Amino acid sequence: MSKIAKILAKEELSHSDIVSMLNAEGSDLNMILEKAKQIKQENVGDKVYMRALLEITNSCSKNCYYCGIRHNNLLIDRYSVTYDEIDAYLEKVVAENIGSIVIQSGELLGNGFIQKIDYLLAKAAELTNGELGITLSCGEQSYETLKRWKALGAQKYLLRIETSNQLLYQKIHPNDENHDFDKRLETLKYLKQLNYHTGTGVMIGMPFQSIENLANDILFMRNLDIDMCGMGPFIIDNDTPMSKYQHLTPSVEKRVSLSLKMYAILRIVMKNINIAATTALFTLDKNAFVKALDTSCNVIMPNFTPPKYKSQYKLYPNKAGTASSIEDSLVNIRNIMELNKFEVGYGQRGDSVHYNKTHLKRVMA
Ligand code: 5AD
Ligand code: SF4
Repeated sequence: MSKIAKILAKEELSHSDIVSMLNAEGSDLNMILEKAKQIKQENVGDKVYMRALLEITNSCSKNCYYCGIRHNNLLIDRYSVTYDEIDAYLEKVVAENIGSIVIQSGELLGNGFIQKIDYLLAKAAELTNGELGITLSCGEQSYETLKRWKALGAQKYLLRIETSNQLLYQKIHPNDENHDFDKRLETLKYLKQLNYHTGTGVMIGMPFQSIENLANDILFMRNLDIDMCGMGPFIIDNDTPMSKYQHLTPSVEKRVSLSLKMYAILRIVMKNINIAATTALFTLDKNAFVKALDTSCNVIMPNFTPPKYKSQYKLYPNKAGTASSIEDSLVNIRNIMELNKFEVGYGQRGDSVHYNKTHLKRVMA
């Protein structure tokens, strides 16, 4: 039995097992991907679930060193989707028979922003009788705000930890109270306390990030007992401070292959969570995106942001889908699904099986 085969036969993986898996190549790597595929089928099935993504504003109060929409980037115009556009978006979601949505934004704490999310949640509940799956991804909000949004109908929240290593976190963010690792951890704890379907994730293949760091990221997600994960490759944006470390950034091939391994390992470790195949991966390598969906991931997020804003939500360059209309993006996605014989869960929420299985236990605890 090869070393990887022995690891794959274990009940629980150690840090060094995960490091070995992250270093696997060739037939060892194929074995890992096959195992992930089998575990996915057994625990969450074969379907791909859609989340209609609305990037509600590209304004952000933060200055993460890697991100194209960071506050200090004066090269992009800022937008905020209007109330009428929120109505139109929700109507389109219903018309396209999409059972679940994701609302993403920069991190804003002002009342205007909070009220806009309030409005969207109330409107979504009214239009769909409270049936629509709703994930918010709006940064570190206060306990009170998160509680209020949960009461208004948001069931899920995604807050990426970006890296679980505090030193690396401090290297890729300004060192101030606005970018505090402990605050981020605390917000993740709030989400669990409030019984949100809790999602997190990391960037993969950053400068200064080691394989050991990535193995710890997997263990971090396991320890937090997350329900959903959104993670993807790091992409260099030349208008950001991180671009000066271009020479320390792994090649595109390396970042793509590391991402595929991270998805597969996470699927093996956390069998019944939802894992999204992300736009960042699609942007770097469409075939790898398909491979991720075939083996480990079960969620995709077609972009429903009004086309006139799409190119302004520029987290990184050449972001996939920014030039096309919502209809064209959907046709494109449907073609990929059909070509690869992926069954889509239209009209279904596709909630995390992990959440549904552990929810009662959590409420009783
Ligand atoms: N490359 C890849 N992902 C990025 N994000 C921000 N900037 C980049 C980048 N340059 C991701 C972060 C953030 C999410 C909104 O986008 O993980 O949480
Ligand atoms: Fe703002 Fe998020 Fe970008 Fe950081 S990663 S600058 S919080 S949008």
